[in-house]
Amino acid sequence: MTRKIIIDTDPGQDDAVAILLALASPELEVLGITTVAGNVPLALTTRNAQLTVGLSGREVPIVAGRDRPLNRPLVTAEYVHGQTGLDGIDLGVPQVPLNPGDGVDFIIDTLRREPEGTVTLVPIGPLTNIAAAFERAPDIVARVQQVVLMGGGYFEGGNVTPAAEFNIYVDPEAAALVLASGVDLVMMPLDVTHKALTSADWLAGLRALGTRAGEAVASWTDFFERYDREKYGSAGAPLHDPCTIAYLIRPELFSGRRINVEIETEGRYTTGMTVADWWGVSGRAPNALFIRDIDRDGFFDLLTERIATLD
Ligand code: BDR
Ligand code: CA
Repeated sequence: MTRKIIIDTDPGQDDAVAILLALASPELEVLGITTVAGNVPLALTTRNAQLTVGLSGREVPIVAGRDRPLNRPLVTAEYVHGQTGLDGIDLGVPQVPLNPGDGVDFIIDTLRREPEGTVTLVPIGPLTNIAAAFERAPDIVARVQQVVLMGGGYFEGGNVTPAAEFNIYVDPEAAALVLASGVDLVMMPLDVTHKALTSADWLAGLRALGTRAGEAVASWTDFFERYDREKYGSAGAPLHDPCTIAYLIRPELFSGRRINVEIETEGRYTTGMTVADWWGVSGRAPNALFIRDIDRDGFFDLLTERIATLD
């Protein structure tokens, strides 16, 4: 049975790879892509979603959502993703249309229209749209099958501050609202995504496909690898966001623990931290499956296999 998903995203090269992986996977039916401000401002994340869908050759509604966090100024990450957010290859101008309307409304309307418990939300940017939808239409929370998000970090610490991972840091109030909503939640924190490191062999394999999609994924990865190579001294770059989609297709590639996770919204040095009770010392009830390990080879084989079916 195919699983229906909405991808909520701020592309971003790794978001774009996640979108391609989803659109290339028969196990998933992508009902729509909603965009959010994050890596770059909303106009660019929306344009990047359109370019990525155009590259896939598939048709899927794209709807623009919130252009700023719930109640703080937007923080962006051009220093990682480049000025366009999708630097690395020139894909021209978008050829696929943007749907009219608002991404938050799209999430609400889709969850109300589809049978209860059949739609999974996959947020791979700041959680602003998801939180806004839950806040405006609390009835949809119980209709969500699952939320599988990329965000947070505990053993790895943060990437944008010593304590906070980017997606949570940009809109901690939104993240706190989603974590407290009672929805069935799976988190892909830096603890696992930092193990999903690209390699020169994998990039060569993509280029050897001889397709536009293979070339784009290799070029995007080449571009944003430079940042992580300099920062962490690692050989490759972590492909954060595709971990969410891979989990939906092959959950057996991942392992973690159901634990309590709280979001720090007011820390002096720790705003946006995911306080993950891995050792069960808080007495607070579990609210998320916190993923910590990945079968790296299985993950990259899956990516190559699926990207090879595009173009
Ligand atoms: C997350 O932040 C963004 O830069 C990436 O797209 C990913 O969603 C990693 O911290
Ligand atoms: Ca992202």
